[in-house]
Amino acid sequence: MEHIDISEIVQYGEKHVGETVKVKGWVRTSRDSKTMAFLALNDGTSLKHLQIVIDKARFSSEELAPCLRNGVSVMAEGVVVPALAAGSGYELNAESLSLIGDCPSDYPLQKKYHSLEFLRTVPHLRVRTNTFNAMLRVRSKVSFALHRFFQERGYTYIHTPIITGSDCEGAGEIFRVTTNGYEDAKTAADEAEYIARDFFRRKAGLTVSGQLEGEVAAMAMGKIYTFGPTFRAENSNTPRHAAEFWQIEPEVAFAKLPDIIKIAESMIKYVIAAVLEECSDEVDFFEKAFEKGLRAKLQSVVSSDFAVLDYTDAIEILKKADEKFAYPVEWGLDLQTEHERYLTEKVLGKPVFVTNYPKKIKSFYMKQNADGKTVAATDLLVPGVGEIIGCSEREADYDKLLSAMTERGMNLEDYKGYMELRKYGTVPHSGFGLGLERILMYVTGIGNIRDVQLYSRTAGDLMA
Ligand code: 4AD
Ligand code: MG
Repeated sequence: MEHIDISEIVQYGEKHVGETVKVKGWVRTSRDSKTMAFLALNDGTSLKHLQIVIDKARFSSEELAPCLRNGVSVMAEGVVVPALAAGSGYELNAESLSLIGDCPSDYPLQKKYHSLEFLRTVPHLRVRTNTFNAMLRVRSKVSFALHRFFQERGYTYIHTPIITGSDCEGAGEIFRVTTNGYEDAKTAADEAEYIARDFFRRKAGLTVSGQLEGEVAAMAMGKIYTFGPTFRAENSNTPRHAAEFWQIEPEVAFAKLPDIIKIAESMIKYVIAAVLEECSDEVDFFEKAFEKGLRAKLQSVVSSDFAVLDYTDAIEILKKADEKFAYPVEWGLDLQTEHERYLTEKVLGKPVFVTNYPKKIKSFYMKQNADGKTVAATDLLVPGVGEIIGCSEREADYDKLLSAMTERGMNLEDYKGYMELRKYGTVPHSGFGLGLERILMYVTGIGNIRDVQLYSRTAGDLMA
C-alpha cells in the first residue's frame, strides 16, 4: 500500500473515515499508559500532527517500545476514525507499526518548548519544530503568492545575475567575488595588476539588488519582476539584517511614483490575503506563540488603506514627539528604525509610505524632484518591523542621472549600459524591492530574521 500525506487526513479526514491507510513520519511526542499508547506523528505536510492510537494488546513490547521515542521515524498503518475528543479531527487506529529510523536519547529536541536562540544552534533539526514547520510553509505560500500576483498581471519573471560588476545601492556593502589567492595580493605590483590576474579581469561582487539589470529588462519587456537572493555585507548586528536575503523587485515602464505605490499596496494586500486564506492554522499558531492580535492585524491590513506621509511632515511629527530617541531627528538625516517604528506604530497604527526623501541620503538612480532637494522615493514602513519596501521612480533624464553619479564620485565606466537606457528611448519608470524575510517577520510575528530562513547568514555567523 502507498503511504499518504498526513495533511490528507488532517484536512479531509471525513472522506477517509473507515479506510485503512498507511502514513510515514517523525514522532514528535508520545504518551504511554497501561493499555494504550499514543503517537503525535508529523510528516511535514501539515502543521497539525496525526494522532496514532495504539491498543497495546495488539503489539509486543519489543515492537512498540522503539516507536515511542521522540524523533524516531515510523510507518503506521491503520483505520481512520473521528477523534474521541469532539472537534479534534481524525486519528488513526494502528493495525501495524514499524520503526524506519531510530533516534537515541541524545536527540536535542526532547522538550516541548525550545528557545529560538537554542534552536539556532541546531539548524539541521530546528526544522522539525512547529515554529519552523509553520514558518517554512508560510514562506513557500508567500513566495508563490508573489509570483501569482505578478504573473496574473502580465509581468515577465526575469532572472538577473548574481555576480555583478556594479553596486546598485552605492553603499559599498558588496561581497567581493574573486579567484585570486593571498599570494596574488602580496605579489601584484599594484591594484591594476591584481585585478588583471582575477577571473573577470575586473572587480566583481555578489549582487545587492537586481534592480539595475531589472531596469534593462523593463525597457524592453515593459513590466518585469525579479525574485532571488541578494547579498549585503552590512556589519550591523540587528534582528532585521541578514547578509543573504531574498528580494522581489518589480520594475514598471511608464509608471510614476503614485502608480508604483498603488502596485506595492495591492501586492502586499494580495499576499496577506493569501496567507489568511491558505495558512489559517499557521496564523493561529503564530498568534498563540508570537503575536497576540496577529489575525486581526492581517485582516485590517487587507481591508484598509495604507497611509502616505511626506518625509518633511514625518520629520515635523518626530520633532514634536513625546519620546526620547537615541538618534537625532533633523531634516536631511535618514530615519532610523526607532523613528520608523514610532511613525507606523504610535502615530498611524498601520503601514505607511514615507515619500520624497532628501536626495543626499538616497541612491543615485532616484528621480530628482523639481525642488532640487528631494527625490521621488518611498519606503513602506510597517508596525513591528519598520521598512519592508524600498521604492522609487527612476531618474529617466540622462544629464540629471549623470550629475547625480558624478556628485557621488561613481565610476561611470561600470554603468555605461545603464546610462544608455536614458539615451535610447528613455521612458519614466519605477520599481521597488520587497525583502521577503521582512514581510515574513510581519506576517508571522517572528522577531528575528535569523528565524525566518532555513539557514541564516549574518555578520560573524555562518550558521551551519
Ligand atoms: O531599500 P533597499 O536597499 O532597496 C533596493 O535595494 C532597491 N534597489 C530596490 C528596488 O527599487 N528595486 O532594499 C529593499 C528591501 C528593503 O526594504 C528590505 O525589505 C530588504 O530589501 N533589505 C533587507 N532585508 C534583510 N536584510 C538586509 N540586510 C536587507 N537590506 C534590505
Ligand atoms: Mg531601503
